[in-house]
Amino acid sequence: MPHKLLVTAAALLFVGFSAACGTVAEPPVITLIPAGERPPSRFTDPELIEGEALYNLACAHCHGYELQGQLEASIPQTEALGMHIVPPHDETGHTWMHPDQLLIRAIREGIPNPLQQYPMPAFEDAYSDAQINAILRYIRFFWTEEQRDHNRRVTEQWAALDQQFAPTEGETMP
Ligand code: HEC
Repeated sequence: MPHKLLVTAAALLFVGFSAACGTVAEPPVITLIPAGERPPSRFTDPELIEGEALYNLACAHCHGYELQGQLEASIPQTEALGMHIVPPHDETGHTWMHPDQLLIRAIREGIPNPLQQYPMPAFEDAYSDAQINAILRYIRFFWTEEQRDHNRRVTEQWAALDQQFAPTEGETMP
């Protein structure tokens, strides 16, 4: 079947499914706050201010402006479709459990999960290492002291393993 037809067939199927079960809620209307009307940052540290601004620009519409996860109004629609919702990054989530190396990889490479309605995009080289570190520092602000300790520990362990298994000078990977 030509590609265009396939897409049309999929769209018709979806419309049919929505009409048939009648439980799929209308997508919510989301109103953005114009830049000039947003409240000033609560931070004085320039790195945290930058992290907060970048997070609000690129991540908050999915992970929540308070890092609470997917926007509440859109959750019924996702659940009606039988899909996963966007996870929170605050202390109720699981982001703190992972080493920074994996968090950075998730941000750069994305997580193409077919079970997610709003899958994690790959930001590739959109942000510098310093900008990603600023975003992570802002995210860490929402964790408990114990969660920060755990994240620090697993990050150090990951770095030690990287060091141990890194190819030595002159050695090439198979
Ligand atoms: C289109 C929605 C969307 C946007 C935009 C988005 N994310 Fe995600 N993100 C997701 C979803 C969905 C997951 C869960 C993926 C999974 O586990 O299958 C995720 C997972 C993650 C993870 C893995 C850790 C965890 O707790 O699951 C990190 C880290 C992350 N996102 C950071 C970010 C950052 C930083 C930004 C902004 C630069 C961002 N995300 C923007 C949807 C999004």
